[in-house]
Amino acid sequence: MISSVDFLSLQKLLLERSGMALTSDKLYLVASRLAPVAQKLGLKSVIELMAALRERPREEMINAVIEAMVTHESLFFRDERPFEHLTHVVIPDILSHRLGMRPIRIWSAACSSGQEAYSIAMLIHERFPGMQFEILGTDISAPIVAKARAGVYSAFEVKRGLTPERLGRFFRIVDAQTYAISDTLRRMVRFETHNLLQSALRFGFFDVVFCRNVLIYFDAPTKMRVLELIARQMDPDGWLFLGSADTVVGVTDKFVGAGQERGVYRPAFSTSKVA
Ligand SMILES: C[S@@+](CC[C@H](N)C(=O)[O-])C[C@H]1O[C@@H](n2cnc3c(N)ncnc32)[C@H](O)[C@@H]1O
Repeated sequence: MISSVDFLSLQKLLLERSGMALTSDKLYLVASRLAPVAQKLGLKSVIELMAALRERPREEMINAVIEAMVTHESLFFRDERPFEHLTHVVIPDILSHRLGMRPIRIWSAACSSGQEAYSIAMLIHERFPGMQFEILGTDISAPIVAKARAGVYSAFEVKRGLTPERLGRFFRIVDAQTYAISDTLRRMVRFETHNLLQSALRFGFFDVVFCRNVLIYFDAPTKMRVLELIARQMDPDGWLFLGSADTVVGVTDKFVGAGQERGVYRPAFSTSKVA
């Protein structure tokens, strides 16, 4: 068991570097998640790892600790409804008032291993052939971004959310337990490492942002900061999708709800009438 001093310094590190708010009820997680990190770094115990973090912190060590503490849980077409709303309401709305040839730009922020970004790509391929678009997936974790880029999934992962038709159409079988995303789909999505606590200016402006199932790990000031940084990267008529447990209410006034649709928001200064 780590000491309360070590727990506090771990809390501080995670909050500052990733935004993650580690509450004391998660103490039990620390030992089980950090023991393999300590072992990999050649340290005898989590207590030694905590001492090393305090006395001689290295980027590699800090990243490994963050990586061990974050949750990468994701699946294809997670919650379904946001993807239906994207296809039936959001993209038609953007196309109806889009002037010129600018592509529709979609950002899967905190994309984990890429299931959300590839789900969006599948929908565009199916429903909007010929449409100009760009899809960017980003995550704080370099290893998970590498997995997203590779687009290689286990049989268990592809069973979660994909119909047999989509599996047959968009994946090739590598072996009995492994599937790889088709080159067509891989070419539709770009993945980059990005921390949501930092400015995303380098990625330009987006019509649609999915930022789902990550704000739940942040405290209120961090949620506000992250949402405000996202707002800066959004087209005034853009659309924001949050996870079912997230809301902007009481967090920021930069977004307002998009009518009755739960989890869908628009920049507060949006000029478009469609909800
Ligand atoms: C639970 S997954 C959600 C994945 C996907 N959005 C979904 O809903 O299925 C949360 C992801 O957020 C990422 N994450 C955590 N803190 C982050 C931060 N500060 N910046 C960017 N990504 C972060 C984690 O690495 C993890 O992959």
